[in-house]
Amino acid sequence: MQDFLIAPSILSADLARLGEDVTKVLADGADVVHFDVMDNHYVPNLTFGPMVCKALRKYGITAPIDVHLMVEPVDDLIVQFADAGATYITFHPEASKHVDRSLQLIADKGCKPGLVLNPATPVSLIEPVLHKLDMLLLMSVNPGFGGQKFIPYTLDKLREARALIDQKGLNTRLEIDGGVTPANIADIARAGADTFVAGSAIFGADSYASAINKMRDALAG
Ligand code: DX5
Ligand code: ZN
Repeated sequence: MQDFLIAPSILSADLARLGEDVTKVLADGADVVHFDVMDNHYVPNLTFGPMVCKALRKYGITAPIDVHLMVEPVDDLIVQFADAGATYITFHPEASKHVDRSLQLIADKGCKPGLVLNPATPVSLIEPVLHKLDMLLLMSVNPGFGGQKFIPYTLDKLREARALIDQKGLNTRLEIDGGVTPANIADIARAGADTFVAGSAIFGADSYASAINKMRDALAG
């Protein structure tokens, strides 16, 4: 099992003070910045683009930035986010006509490629390209909004994905996104996740440090 990474989703951050808020959550113990890009087309919501990613880098954020593209099509934005300082770039396979080509584009631009599966999309869909992924992200809510409830059948998908990754001897990170809290993170880890996106559970807490510490304690216990 790989080490556990906590990835706060800036969808729930204070967007008017984004640089400060991201600096604080990292100082309070977060590992990765999860950056939700929505286009009001692939998902029914609109967030931020590569300029904001670039601005975070310029502000001095050096932690890995995990760009979750909920956009269609993906290739133009892959290039722009790579140039803007993204570390991981993940996209939904339904949003690219040529998934292998888009993954290759991410790698060619020097970023770490990943795919994201919606709750109803089977894990088997990405099996042929699993070896090309640095990250496999399973959605545990329908994408588009923070603050939704964790969908329990995603645990079965995590177990399936973990078995496939281990069976093939890969280092692919297995990330979960949606409805993660200190109360359910231990079960999610037992099902095989090693990277945990949490938006409202961290940015909605009075203390980011205490929310993150509760998650780490649950993961350690
Ligand atoms: C939803 C996003 C998530 C979201 C998670 O489409 O991909 O990253 O911000 O938020 P919480 O943790 O509040 O469910
Ligand atoms: Zn996300």
